[in-house]
Amino acid sequence: MMILGIETSCDETAAAVVEDGRKILSNMVASQISIHRKYGGVVPELASRKHVESIVPVINEALSKARITMDEIEGVAVTRGPGLVGSLLVGICVAKSIAYVKKIPLVAINHLEGHVLAAFLEKEIPSFPFVALVVSGGHTNLYYVSDFAALELMGQTRDDAAGEAFDKVAKLLHLGYPGGVIIDALSKEGNPNAINFPRAYMEKDTFDFSFSGLKTAVVNYVKQNPNIVEHPESHTISVADLTASFQEAVVDVLISKTIKAAEEKGVGQIVLAGGVASNSRLRARLKDVARDRGLKVYIPAPELCTDNAAMVAACGYYRLKRGFQSSFDLDAISRNRDFD
Ligand code: KG4
Ligand code: ZN
Repeated sequence: MMILGIETSCDETAAAVVEDGRKILSNMVASQISIHRKYGGVVPELASRKHVESIVPVINEALSKARITMDEIEGVAVTRGPGLVGSLLVGICVAKSIAYVKKIPLVAINHLEGHVLAAFLEKEIPSFPFVALVVSGGHTNLYYVSDFAALELMGQTRDDAAGEAFDKVAKLLHLGYPGGVIIDALSKEGNPNAINFPRAYMEKDTFDFSFSGLKTAVVNYVKQNPNIVEHPESHTISVADLTASFQEAVVDVLISKTIKAAEEKGVGQIVLAGGVASNSRLRARLKDVARDRGLKVYIPAPELCTDNAAMVAACGYYRLKRGFQSSFDLDAISRNRDFD
């Protein structure tokens, strides 16, 4: 079954064609980074306008790269949320139009479930049940996944998302936008043990996360040691040491809670997904720790971790196969907790 996936939840306009939820025929992403960079973050109104401009060309590119026509598409999957409502509505509107005109099924996708299903686009795929950690710019969610379309939320962040913490720390240090990928690269030259930043594990029995205390600790460190940014040559600890130490604190907590969740549920497999899952330190450390514990880890290729439409198309295939279909009164949902 040939599915067209559409993703416009934030600042990437994406369209993809995926066959039978497994085979990526095309996966196009038009990034808006250059538009939002000068503001240091995504400006919702600008994002929506750019989606309107880009969505049809991006879909056409996805079809031509897949060497198929719209007539061969058998279903349309679109991200319904969570995300920016104005941005989501652009994708939803186009998806509805295609489904209506071509008389093919429309299926709404939860962006976070889409991230998890990116793992099924790889050669080696997990089997149910498994534990999945979705770490993105807006979410840090830990799931117990028993089947397609059956995700149980075990824990989530109580304040900042992991990606948000990366972006805020990068902004504080004037490193540029978006911060995660910059901190990842810079930290390779730094010492992750240079500064012992706090790890918020919270109550013993919770799988929730908290990253605002860590962010504040970085802010305080920079306030107390202004030379690290202003006169780095006069400081014994470099900015790379600082970012590596911050990154290590994030990675430690993410890994520890994920392993604990897998052990509590008695599952042998872990899926890591979402934009922050493209972080090289997190990928390497999770693989190491999991190997030591006899757990198997599935992490999609970096380009399938950051926002894309192939994951949406894959998710759409499995949902359609299970009888989920959306009607034309489908609306956008901004917050994950408002999903049914
Ligand atoms: O999943 P995603 O592409 O979009 C959302 O759904 O939010 O995730 C974007 C987030 C951003 O916060 C970005 O800084 C972070 O993922 N990110 C990274 C890396 N690449 C992207 N964080 C750490 N290391 C990376 N290599
Ligand atoms: Zn995402």
